[in-house]
Amino acid sequence: MKPLVFAAAFSAATLLAQGAAPDAANGKKLFLRDGCYECHGYAGQGGRDGARIAVIGLNAQGLIHYVRAPAGAMPAYTDKVITDQELTDIHAYLQTMAKAKPAKDIPLLNDLYKK
Ligand code: HEC
Repeated sequence: MKPLVFAAAFSAATLLAQGAAPDAANGKKLFLRDGCYECHGYAGQGGRDGARIAVIGLNAQGLIHYVRAPAGAMPAYTDKVITDQELTDIHAYLQTMAKAKPAKDIPLLNDLYKK
């Protein structure tokens, strides 16, 4: 009995330390709740006030670092406003979006660049 209790406590602690698995559906809710969409667009496509962030090169840790201390016009979000776990969910949500096509695969842009 005892080893079983110990094992259960240990795995609960490990789960807490690692955080729950990223939840893209929750990430979508948070993306709207915390106003990311106001600057980055509903689909992370970017807008007048924010960069395109759908499927960026950053991993979840990189996104967390960035949001805590953004480089430019973006406001910083502390962990009181949005937790690391919540940002991990937002990252998972952004990964579900379509990648931008490279310019060479957009016929109109191809025509523009032709001499
Ligand atoms: C007030 C407008 C605004 C809001 C709200 C906002 N951002 Fe941004 N964000 C920006 C701008 C502008 C940039 C481009 C770089 C800069 O100026 O900081 C940016 C850049 C980023 C980048 C870096 C993109 C890259 O390619 O490196 C990430 C990641 C990001 N934002 C995530 C978020 C998340 C997640 C939220 C919601 C919690 C959010 N942003 C809310 C304006 C905003």
